[in-house]
Amino acid sequence: MIFITGGAGFIGSNFILDWLTQATAEPVLNIDKLTYAGNPYNLGAVEKDARYAFVQADICDETAMATLLSRYRPRAIIHFAAESHVDRSIRSPDEFIRTNVNGTFNLLNRALQYWLTLPGPEKTDFRFLHISTDEVYGSLAPEDAPFTEASPYAPNSLYSASKAASDHLVRAYHQTYGLPTLSTNCSNNYGPFHFPEKLIPLVISNALAGNPLPVYGDGLQIRDWLFVTDHCAALRTVLASGTVGETYNIGGGNEHTNLHVVHTLCDILDELAARSQGSYRDLITFVKDRPGHDRRYAIDAGKIKRELGWQPAESFETGIRKTVQWYLAHGEWVRQVRSGDYLNWLRQQYGDHPPGAQI
Ligand code: NAD
Ligand code: DAU
Repeated sequence: MIFITGGAGFIGSNFILDWLTQATAEPVLNIDKLTYAGNPYNLGAVEKDARYAFVQADICDETAMATLLSRYRPRAIIHFAAESHVDRSIRSPDEFIRTNVNGTFNLLNRALQYWLTLPGPEKTDFRFLHISTDEVYGSLAPEDAPFTEASPYAPNSLYSASKAASDHLVRAYHQTYGLPTLSTNCSNNYGPFHFPEKLIPLVISNALAGNPLPVYGDGLQIRDWLFVTDHCAALRTVLASGTVGETYNIGGGNEHTNLHVVHTLCDILDELAARSQGSYRDLITFVKDRPGHDRRYAIDAGKIKRELGWQPAESFETGIRKTVQWYLAHGEWVRQVRSGDYLNWLRQQYGDHPPGAQI
C-alpha cells in the first residue's frame, strides 16, 4: 500500500486517478483533512475500487498518523497535503505554517518512527516522496536561466516560505536520520479538478458566468505551465527510480505571461462557447497587484529528463484546450465547489462522515 496525503485536492486526486489506471498499482490510502480545497467528489470514479480507501485526518495529528502507519504499513508516503494558495497565505498565514511546516514535521517524525521498526527489505524499499514547488527559489529576472536543483532558496511569499521550510525539514530527516526521502519541486500545474481560486480555472469559470477576469498588475508576470497528468507521471517516475536523498525539478518548459494565458483561454472559449455578443477578452479587468508578486518562474527539468527519462506528453496548446473542454463539460463541479454545495452533496451521500477507514 502507499499513503497519499492531500489526495482530495487538485494534484493529489489527479495522482490517485492516474495511479489506479495501472494494472499493477499498489492500493492507496488517501489521508486528507478535507479543508475547503479537499473534495472527495473528485475521486468518485475510484470510490468503489477495492484498491482505494479514504480516511479523513489531519497530518498534524500525531496519534492519527502513528496509528495509520502502524495499521497499514505503507511502502511509501507521497506527501501532497498543504495549504497551496499564495493569496490566502498573504491574508492568513497561520494555517500555512501549521500544515505546511508543523504538519510536514509531524509526518516526517511519525514516518521515521515507523521506518525504524521495519525489517530489512521493507526498510530498504520505503520512500517518503515530498511534493514541493518552484516558488521556493524566488523570482527570476528576464535574463536569468531557469531554476535548477542547485538554485539558492529565496522564498518571497508566506506560502513559499512555508514550503521552503518543509523542504529543509525533509532534507534534514534524510541527512540526519537516513530516512529514505525524495523531493520534487514543480512549476505551475493546470488541468481537471483545479480549484477555481487559481488563475486558469478562475478565468474559465468567471468567463462562463460573464464575470470580470481579474489580471494582477500589468499581467506580464511569467509562469511555467505543466499539465497535471504530466506532473503525476513525473512523480511516478521519481518514486520508482529516483535516487534517495535527491531533489528533482519538474516543469513543462512552457513559459507564458499571465496575459497570454488569459488571452488564450478567452480565444478558446470564443471558439467553443461563444458569447452572444463580443469576445471573452472584453471581460479582462486589470486589478491591484499581489503584494510581493514574483515576476517570473521557470524550471530547468534537465535532471529528471536525463537521469530518469521523464518527458511531458502535453504541450501548453494541447493541455490548455483539454482543460477548457473539461471545465465546459463539468459546469456542475464548478458550481458545487463555488457554492459550497458539494459539502451538502457529501453530507447527503455519507452523513457526517465521509467514506473510508476510521482511525
Ligand atoms: P490543493 O490546495 O488543491 O490540495 C491540498 C489538499 O491538502 C486538499 O485536499 C486539502 O484538504 C489537504 N490538506 C490541507 N491541509 C491538510 C492537513 N492539515 N492534513 C491533511 N490534509 C490537508 O493543492 P494542490 O494544488 O493539489 O497542491 C498539492 C501539493 O503540490 C502541495 O504540496 C503544493 O505545495 C504542491 N504544488 C502545487 C503546484 C500547483 O500548481 N498547484 C505546483 C507545485 C507544487
Ligand atoms: O509555481 C507553482 C505554484 O503555482 C504552486 O506552488 C502553488 O500552489 C500554485 O497555487 C501556483 O501559485 P501561483 O501563485 O503562481 O498560482 P495562481 O494561479 O494563484 O496565480 C498564477 C499567476 O496569475 C500569478 O502570477 C498571479 C496571477 N493571478 C492570479 C489570480 C488568482 C492573476 O493575475 N489574477 C488572479 O485572479
